[in-house]
This record gives sequence, structure tokens and C-alpha cells, in this order.
Amino acid sequence: MSDYLYQKTNHYFGQLASGTEKCGMAELKVLGATNIKPGYLGVFFCANPRTIYDIIYQTRIFSRILAPLIVFDCHSEKYLYKTAQNIDWSDFLTLTKTFAITSNIADSNIRNSQYAGQIFKDAIVDQFREKTGERPNVDTHNPDLQLNLYIHQNKARISVDLGGGSLHKRGYRTESVEAPMQETLAATIIQLSGWNGERPLHDPFCGSGTLLCEALMKQCNIPAAYLRHKFGFLRLPDFDAAVWNQVKTKANSEINEISEESIKGSDISPDALKAVRANRSTLPDGGKIKVRRSDFQSLEGFQNTTIVTNPPYGIRLGDKESTADLLKEFGDFLKQKCTGCSAFIYYGDTALVKKLGLKPDWKHPLRSGGLDGVLCKYELY
Ligand SMILES: C[S@@+](CC[C@H](N)C(=O)[O-])C[C@H]1O[C@@H](n2cnc3c(N)ncnc32)[C@H](O)[C@@H]1O
Repeated sequence: MSDYLYQKTNHYFGQLASGTEKCGMAELKVLGATNIKPGYLGVFFCANPRTIYDIIYQTRIFSRILAPLIVFDCHSEKYLYKTAQNIDWSDFLTLTKTFAITSNIADSNIRNSQYAGQIFKDAIVDQFREKTGERPNVDTHNPDLQLNLYIHQNKARISVDLGGGSLHKRGYRTESVEAPMQETLAATIIQLSGWNGERPLHDPFCGSGTLLCEALMKQCNIPAAYLRHKFGFLRLPDFDAAVWNQVKTKANSEINEISEESIKGSDISPDALKAVRANRSTLPDGGKIKVRRSDFQSLEGFQNTTIVTNPPYGIRLGDKESTADLLKEFGDFLKQKCTGCSAFIYYGDTALVKKLGLKPDWKHPLRSGGLDGVLCKYELY
């Protein structure tokens, strides 16, 4: 077994969405990472093996954690192939295991990321063929080993994706609605709201309940990967099953309960209610998320509550005009019926902020799923 870069340096890279960097860095610090530094759409950091398992099990903000195997100057496809073949892939794969490659390339001689991914795949497959006469299969949906190739200004980095796929897939989304929120974005919004369970939280446009499930997971200390069965780090040559079991057992032993009145949601759509009920049932204490079918206009109003929500935003749902009318009515509802509350509203389109008719105390840009969104805070007196 060779000495790979992550083994020699304890260096890792976490990928996250634009706007979530500060939350991600703060989370890494709490989880015990050191030398935390911002990079392009992500964060570099150091962690020992125990800490890296803990980070992958618990991170709510990062979508991928990558362990670099090698970094090298790469000016051509030929050199990419040759260097990728220098790695002994039997350290990570057997013929019965599957793999997949994600590649991102910018500002380099090699321009086409898909083609570069193909070359990288050929290097792995050819190495197995030369040694055994057979090759491992590619599975892009559910691979045992997910690899990442990143080339920027002709500097290449080959890494193992330690989560084994995007970590936003928590496992609780068994049913969905149109335009559900990404779980990592919902977790960031809950984090930015500062909600700590001291007062109730309500989402009046709860959809499939992503914000409600993330609020529950945070408040109950449920590890973000609690429902995940497959992890990329299981394929590392130095994977330590004893340490991983200790990390998991300790984190699971810290799961708390919450009170029945803490987390509530409502939505006008029966399908949304069906989805949120199915999703909450996958989580420990999920039955304590209380939901009901209601137009927000029919709600009696709130006091001393944290309102966290993601109203329809007119790109994927409904049309822009009706979204503007709905937001104006929601703004009136907040002014008239929610005094003493704080509201955190995520708009999937920044142009909609002014339609609410309330001045935000602050705005925080958050990009997700190709949407240029923004989270706004309103203190309602
Ligand atoms: C952008 S989606 C929310 C998605 C949700 N955050 C999730 O992750 O699934 C907006 C939701 O608002 C609901 N909605 C639309 N008009 C409503 C109204 N007048 N009162 C309550 N809910 C409404 C829709 O049914 C939809 O589920």
C-alpha cells in the first residue's frame, strides 16, 4: 500500500454551496478539524482519522468530503492517463466492486471534464485488465467507490469521495413535492436562523418538510448521516472499522428528545402533507413534528415563534404574478398576526424580496440547485 496524500498530510477538502462557507467552517471547527481555510466552492482542512469519520457522519452543511490521493501538474490527457495508472487501484477496488467518477475542470489545457473523466476511467479499467484480464464495473447511481478528478490551471487532484456520493441525501426523503429544498441548504438556513429550541419553530409552506426534518435533526443531535448505509471511506486501504464503530456509537448515544410543541408545519397541499408525514416517520422522534393541512391565510397567527420558510417562488411553482400576490398577502399576515416572532424567509429568486412589503433586518445570499436565492430575516414587532 502506498502513502497517499491524505495519509501523509491529514489534508481534506469539503465541497459546499456558495454562501454556506462560514457555516461550514464553523461546523468543521466544532467537529474538531484544524487548519480550516476557504477554497473555491469549498474548504481545505486537516483532521485525524477519528475526526474525519465524525465529520462525514455529522456534517449538515457539506455536500462532499474529499480525501486527496495525489496532486500533480497535468497539461495533457496522455499525462492524466499515465499518472492515474501510477496509483495501485487494487488498494481501493476489487473486481466485485463498482466505481464512478465526478470531474470538474477549469482554466486548463484539458477542457472537457466529461472526456477527462473517461480517460481517468480507462486508466483504472486498463490497469485491472492488464493484471487480471477482467475489469470492475462503473455504476453512476450507487457506486462502492466514488472518485473525484479536479483540474484547475493545469494542477490536477485525484480524490476519494469519503461520503460515497452527495451528503445532502440524508435518507429521510422517501416522498417529495415539486421544488423541494436541498437538505444541506435547509440545514444552513436552520443554522443561520439561530433557532435553539427555546421557542417553537413553524414552517407555514412546509412542502415535504425539509426545513422541519433538518430542525429536528439539529435539535435532537441526530447525525446527518444517521440513515446512510454506504460510505466512501469504507473503501480506503486504511479504513479502521473499530474507530468508525466508536465514532458512530458515541454520536448515536448523544441523540436527544424534544418536546411535542417544538416543531410544526403546515401546507395547503394534501400531497405535501402526505410527503412530510412519510419523511418524518423515518427519523427518531419524527412523530413529534406536528403538521396540518392549511392555507397560511387560515392560520390563527403566531406569538413568540421562529418562522422559517420557503414560499413558492414562481420559477418552478406557479407563475410570477400569483407568487407576488401570495407574498404580499403573506407579508400582511406576518405584520398583523405574528407580532413578537422572528421570520426567516428563503426566496429562490432575489427579485421577490420586495414583494413581501417588509424590510429585512438582514439578507444572506444562498445559491442552491442553480437558483440564486437569498435568506432574509424579519423581526416582527
Ligand atoms: C417551495 S415549496 C416548499 C418546499 C419545502 N421547503 C420542501 O423542502 O419540500 C412551497 C410550498 O408552498 C405551498 N403553498 C402554496 N401556496 C400556499 C398557501 N397559500 N398556503 C400554504 N401553503 C402554500 C405549496 O404547496 C408548496 O408545498
